[in-house]
Amino acid sequence: MANPSPRRSLPLLMSPHKGGRSALTCEFRCGNACAHDVSNASDNTYFGDVVASALSRRGMLRASALGVIAAGAGVAGVAGAVPAAADPEPESLSTAGGRHGGRGSLRFAAVAPNREDRIVVPEGYASAAVVRWGDPVLPGAPAFDYENQTAAAQAQQFGYNCDFVTFFPMGGHRGLLWVNHEYSDEALMFRGYTGGSTATDEQIKIGLAAHGGSIVEIERVRNSGQWKLVTRGRRRYNRRITAQTPMKFTGPAAGSDLLKTAADPSGTSVLGMLNNCAGGTTPWGTVLTAEENFNQYFAMGGGAPEEQKAGLKRYGIDPTSTKPSGRGWERLEERFDLSKNPHEVNRFGWIVEIDPFDPDSTPIKRTALGRFAHEGATTTLARDGRVVAYMGDDSRFEYVYKFVSKKRYIPGFDRHNRTLLDEGTLYVAKFTGDSPATEIDGSGKLPADGQFDGSGEWIPLVTGNVSHVPGMTAAEVLVFTRLAADKVGATKMDRPEDIERNPVTGGVYLALTNNSNRTPAQVDEANPRPSNKHGHVLEIVEKHNDAGATTFAWSLPVVCGDPNDPATYFAGFDKTKVSPISCPDNVAFDRDGNLWISTDGNAFKLNDGLFVMPVTGPERGYLRQFLTVPIGAETCGPLITQDQRSVFIAVQHPGEVDGASPETPMSHWPDGGDSQPRPSVAVAWHTQGKKIGS
Ligand code: FEO
Ligand code: CA
Ligand code: CA
Repeated sequence: MANPSPRRSLPLLMSPHKGGRSALTCEFRCGNACAHDVSNASDNTYFGDVVASALSRRGMLRASALGVIAAGAGVAGVAGAVPAAADPEPESLSTAGGRHGGRGSLRFAAVAPNREDRIVVPEGYASAAVVRWGDPVLPGAPAFDYENQTAAAQAQQFGYNCDFVTFFPMGGHRGLLWVNHEYSDEALMFRGYTGGSTATDEQIKIGLAAHGGSIVEIERVRNSGQWKLVTRGRRRYNRRITAQTPMKFTGPAAGSDLLKTAADPSGTSVLGMLNNCAGGTTPWGTVLTAEENFNQYFAMGGGAPEEQKAGLKRYGIDPTSTKPSGRGWERLEERFDLSKNPHEVNRFGWIVEIDPFDPDSTPIKRTALGRFAHEGATTTLARDGRVVAYMGDDSRFEYVYKFVSKKRYIPGFDRHNRTLLDEGTLYVAKFTGDSPATEIDGSGKLPADGQFDGSGEWIPLVTGNVSHVPGMTAAEVLVFTRLAADKVGATKMDRPEDIERNPVTGGVYLALTNNSNRTPAQVDEANPRPSNKHGHVLEIVEKHNDAGATTFAWSLPVVCGDPNDPATYFAGFDKTKVSPISCPDNVAFDRDGNLWISTDGNAFKLNDGLFVMPVTGPERGYLRQFLTVPIGAETCGPLITQDQRSVFIAVQHPGEVDGASPETPMSHWPDGGDSQPRPSVAVAWHTQGKKIGS
């Protein structure tokens, strides 16, 4: 490793992170997951059916809920609510949030819902792109040329569709940005693209190189909250990780037969990472990046061995398919052909740890954290110092997980800390409601006790090499975590995405994006609306506020949608003052403990945005839109810097709307004119240097 690293220890707990989408987004991001059957066909219960657990839920809730959490409890915001209204049209949306400036600690006037092809920020703020698809990352990389892109250039340039963003200050006015590149959209990247079966070899190679992640050095602009890419000098940490970068496996499943392939008979090394969505950071200053919809890259499930087909199906891969994959990568790399390399798929769907300050380091897939459509992984510490990672499995009816290390984090003992994610216990969440099932009627109306709330438990799946799931080995639990969770009564959720702990209160917040497939018979108190198109936010208070606990209390502080819709809830706050919100995806916190929420797939057919809401005090539930992103884009990443003067967002897939093509681009962001849209990381700041949101 290169000498003196400017690595700073990170403030503990602070780590950032992401339906109504276009056909292009559905095809390229998740392989049309919504068009396929739900992967979770287990007869695992919806908890509405479950008999109340032995745990005294009410007792626990009262005993352990934080005072600050209790402040918002029991406020019946929409008592007497009526059944959900019909689909709100954009013009009928409440825009009240746009007319009220805040009075508490957050004092900006909310941005109104819109369809503008730019980033819209509140008055007094500015925004700018920091790094765009194709910008040179490695010194000497060629300048971006949309019309003449090559794989060699792409491998040295900023990748496509940026998602998770995190920032490592380096002292002075410099810092490193880590950015995930979740997926490529070849239909917008190449003129005349007609699909994987006709893609050129070069297009396939560009796609492979456009995935992964980037590390780039950035610098502050003058003394403002704006940052820009460093474009000269050595930039010794700048790095591209792609779908072909050598990586290794560690943890209990490393070396297991399930990970062995012809190319890697040891089951310990793999090329690349795929579909990295959100992520987190560790207390020791590394990145955790999450492989999400990896299933779509694999073809020919019909040719896989019979004994493997149940596992394929549970992970969203058609075990009868004889068709090529969407991008056709298996033509160039046989490892993506399940009939020839049936285990290669088991080597994707992991949390990957990357050291941003060691450009020569090998990224590590940490098998102890399980394998599923990982949305992200955010860390905190248990009271006794063990490391805890919270994780969502972003598919309809999937589960929420957490990992708790066996050993404790020791500040400054880097060699020790780097082993912590290899040994511990992986848990899956079970949520139980405390109101009678008859009161959860699907209308969104709050039950008589005034809250969608209850208790929960973390059910252990595996500890080190010891499985807690009958009939499955530890390696099987880790490689087929969904199948293991099916067997222990985990609760099926409405697409669990980002989950992160509030650094001030210790509450844990989970974004549940949406679930068009939940039927009226399947509603429960934690997922109370059928055909849930706008999603909701769930808050967990671990017992004794200890992230290492195995029981918790939970509630839904936000049930999303148009505040005019009675089936919405904003912690009891005056709904005439809040902004409409749809499809919460990523959550983040500023240093004051305000909850920031970015959205993906605005079911109002308006632009996605970034919202902020206090979670304590009289303004708990006062949710306001802070910015919106250009047409077709989703808002990812959100990261509020520690000095609170800058907010970074990833603007993913601008212009990816129905009917868009390189001939008819639907967005020209960020370059303007008649340019092609470019996924980019942007920054917003107050023009007078004030704290973001204040
Ligand atoms: Fe990549 Fe779960 O969004
Ligand atoms: Ca996401
Ligand atoms: Ca209740």
